[in-house]
Amino acid sequence: MREILSKIQDLIEEQRARVEGMKSQGAPADYSKMDRIVIGVCGGDGIGPYITEQAARVLERLLAEEAASGRIVFRNIEGLTIENRAAQGKAIPDGVMDELKSCGVILKGPTTTPRAGDPWPNVESANVAMRKALDLYANVRPVKVPDQGIDWMFFRENTEGAYTLGSKGLNIDGDIALDFTVTTTQGTERIARLAFEYARKTGKKRVTAVTKANVVKTTDGKFLSICKSISGEYPEIEFDDWYIDIMAAKLLDVKRRSDFQVMVLPNLYGDILTDEAAELQGGVGTAGSANIGGKYAMFEAIHGSAPRMVSEGRAQYADPCSMLRASVMLLEHIGFTDKAAALARAMDYCMFTEKRVRITGRADGVTGREYCDYILSNL
Ligand code: IPM
Ligand code: MG
Repeated sequence: MREILSKIQDLIEEQRARVEGMKSQGAPADYSKMDRIVIGVCGGDGIGPYITEQAARVLERLLAEEAASGRIVFRNIEGLTIENRAAQGKAIPDGVMDELKSCGVILKGPTTTPRAGDPWPNVESANVAMRKALDLYANVRPVKVPDQGIDWMFFRENTEGAYTLGSKGLNIDGDIALDFTVTTTQGTERIARLAFEYARKTGKKRVTAVTKANVVKTTDGKFLSICKSISGEYPEIEFDDWYIDIMAAKLLDVKRRSDFQVMVLPNLYGDILTDEAAELQGGVGTAGSANIGGKYAMFEAIHGSAPRMVSEGRAQYADPCSMLRASVMLLEHIGFTDKAAALARAMDYCMFTEKRVRITGRADGVTGREYCDYILSNL
């Protein structure tokens, strides 16, 4: 028992240190003042290298002038592969972590997340480790279905909740397993503020918090009450809250769902709800996401590495749109708003209007490379 209590004490100390870190955080990166922005490109596992290569090709085209002048530098980062992580027994191998930190922004392909029973050691997810190590506290995930009036922006808290100690649960004895979920004042305030600031900047009228505060009373209760209190600073924006179960249902309610605009939610609910939302948009393969911190930002697909597509020899048919949507967010984040809008426009045109070629994930559709050529021809 003493050993278990001492482990719990260590976990609390770790969280205290994280809170102190958040309290002393400096001003966020200002890309407009930087003479040089390094974009790290990290292929990942499975279909990752295929779709990342295509998205990087589009980004390189869009930023050709800036790359020529040296303001933008593309840096390839090798080694964030499951084989390398397994060999080192680390979620992010040391050399890779140093390289990631040498870049301000990162375009990252999906990485395989080991689980018990896999041929790999059950190391922590590379995504989760990177989000924590670079303090990428906001997972920003847009979902749009224009012809159904759906225009949602999810602000998923990305460094706390069920994830922060997700690999540090305790097996108390043969019968009892214990996991932890963490909500902090600072961690919740910063994600809530980002959601409200986004709403204010873009003229959105409503922010919705999603929790299960009726049951998970302490941590979700804290998350909800902080969101509520921050909403007081934004009187022009309507604030409401829903529980995750009914929210998952309401996303399917065609009469109500287009009323939702901005959602702010703890890590695990954000993980689940954004997959559901992306499915309505055409599948997780169409959805990109931004992982934003004060110092670093990482842009990725919302889906996994689809090893089955590789083993079935279909990796070249994987949909690069998730990584292209992530690239739109990357461009926006570093201040290339016009280029971001141009890419988004070309994608919308190809995906929703002209639809001259289609991606199906199989040989009856075009390859990811061909799809990117199609989009480039419409830029
Ligand atoms: C996501 C993914 C990750 C997560 C996995 C790969 C650990 O599902 O980015 O949504 O759960 O956050
Ligand atoms: Mg997910």
